[in-house]
Amino acid sequence: MDHFHFQDNQLHCENVPVSEIAERVGTPAYVYSKATFLHHYRAVRDAFAALDPLICYSIKSCGNLSICRMLKNAGAGFDIVSGGELARAEAIGADMSQIVFAGVGKSDAEIEHAIDAGVGWFNVESEAEMENLIAISRRKGARTRAALRVNPDVDPKTHRYTSTGKKESKFGVDLERGRRFFDAYGRDDAVHLCGIHLHIGSPVNSIEPYVSAITKGVELIDALRNDGFDIDTIDIGGGFGAHYRDAEAPPAVSYAEAIVPLLEDKKLKVIMEPGRSIAANAGILLTRVLYLKQSGERDFLIVDGGMNDLLRPALYEAYHFAWPTSPREGFVPADRATAGELPGLKLMDIVGPVCESGDFLARDRMLPPMERGDFLAIYSAGAYGMVMASHYNTRPNPPEILVDGDTFQVIRKRETYDDLMAAERC
Ligand code: LLP
Repeated sequence: MDHFHFQDNQLHCENVPVSEIAERVGTPAYVYSKATFLHHYRAVRDAFAALDPLICYSIKSCGNLSICRMLKNAGAGFDIVSGGELARAEAIGADMSQIVFAGVGKSDAEIEHAIDAGVGWFNVESEAEMENLIAISRRKGARTRAALRVNPDVDPKTHRYTSTGKKESKFGVDLERGRRFFDAYGRDDAVHLCGIHLHIGSPVNSIEPYVSAITKGVELIDALRNDGFDIDTIDIGGGFGAHYRDAEAPPAVSYAEAIVPLLEDKKLKVIMEPGRSIAANAGILLTRVLYLKQSGERDFLIVDGGMNDLLRPALYEAYHFAWPTSPREGFVPADRATAGELPGLKLMDIVGPVCESGDFLARDRMLPPMERGDFLAIYSAGAYGMVMASHYNTRPNPPEILVDGDTFQVIRKRETYDDLMAAERC
């Protein structure tokens, strides 16, 4: 599942002790394993090989240029959701024909940028956007390809903030509207509406919602084909699970076993947009213990990374396993599921330095004895970690480090106060 493991009481990322990285680059810091990224990318590719899908890595999950370049070299296309993400794809020389551009609010400038760049598909989310895309394509004399994002009205059973495929969601159009949408725009000559896009939410740790959504999507495609529309693409989105508590996400092969038979004989180009399932377990947030304190009955471990570095616990009450990187004798966990049962642990909250009560990284955790100066790893932080970091409390963003075997490289330097204020005038 990942390449973070304990050896001689030291947490290693691949072959490098992470405390060595912390000493060299400081904390907080994001540390990624190249082998884990590639392992999860290849797991999706191999599991779905029967469909020969275009795997468009979702840049929004972890968009560092080195990571994107590494995945491009492994064969990935990209799922983008903004002009900024398009600029990232351009910066690494991505093949623009392997890019899907999603998002409910694409600006004219972003649409023009994407048409000029030659992106493969626009995932269109509303009638108004389609009309705008047609108008801009006409003005440019471009022939654009688009897929319609439909809401299959499936409950992905995930956090309400990251559930996207229900009828009342702001994303896409509902299924009934899908037929009318094609009647209105499906024969346009500037924008070739050639596919259906589904993305039901994230993370989706069960397979059944994909089966329902894709079944409904395929029924719509069959109906549209019967009506004479030329549909050649289905984009099944992302949202595949990752391991946060233990090994709770189904492996890529389990999703594939259920999904491949639904699409195998449909003569469709299949696009997938995984982000989290590739990136989450490939990264940790390394922090350092600043202080221990007690207030009321609670014990707090105050570390130098906070909600500005990793927002997920504050925003979704997301669970991230956390453990010291150099635990004392007897406190090396056998696995994450049973770590909290070791004798001699203490109940603690891990909190950051930000001026909000919501600034926590973990709550009610049984943790080994620690002292000021110890390093602590927050696991499964590779996806939606650094990309959601903010400058709140004027805190510079942490660096990103990529480990490859015995070596590591800083792939984003730590911001300075000057970097932080560079765009401001006084
Ligand atoms: N495709 C579309 C259209 C999406 O909106 C997303 C994620 C993905 C693909 C990739 O989903 P993934 O495979 O990474 O699950 N900030 C939240 C997650 C928001 C996901 C937004 N869309 C979190 O930290 O959990």
